[in-house]
Amino acid sequence: MKLNVNGNEHEVDVEPDMPLLWVLRDELNITGPKYGCGVAQCGACTVHIDGMAVRSCQMAAGDVDGDITTIEGLGTPNAMHAVQAAWVEHQVAQCGYCQSGQIMAAASFLDVNPEPTDDQIDRAMSANLCRCGTYPRIRAAIKTAAKNLSGA
Ligand code: FES
Ligand code: FES
Repeated sequence: MKLNVNGNEHEVDVEPDMPLLWVLRDELNITGPKYGCGVAQCGACTVHIDGMAVRSCQMAAGDVDGDITTIEGLGTPNAMHAVQAAWVEHQVAQCGYCQSGQIMAAASFLDVNPEPTDDQIDRAMSANLCRCGTYPRIRAAIKTAAKNLSGA
């Protein structure tokens, strides 16, 4: 099957029911998305499909209908996405394991909620788990990113 990942077309020879996370990590060596729980409960594997956050551990590769973006394609060190830049500014990460999923979830959330309240942020991000407890900095970084995206 063909998959478009971060703007590149890939032909992969996998069973259609293979989880997208496996295809990304094991077939394409794109290791930003992480395996946390494997059952759509933690968010570590979050990627975008046509801009929407999805949990790649529970998305069959054969069901993908759109362009995939992983953390590797969201921005670059020289041209970071506003969410990535805010993450750096707030020094959000601790161990880092959950962080690509957090950033991908936050970027997708801000696309549809450009001026979120604290409650909306907390609700939207509550299903992305962080064992290091970086939640206060995640919230602060999302607020900064929202401000920078709106040009306020
Ligand atoms: S690994 Fe996909 S949600 Fe936990
Ligand atoms: S930064 Fe360690 S799990 Fe979130």
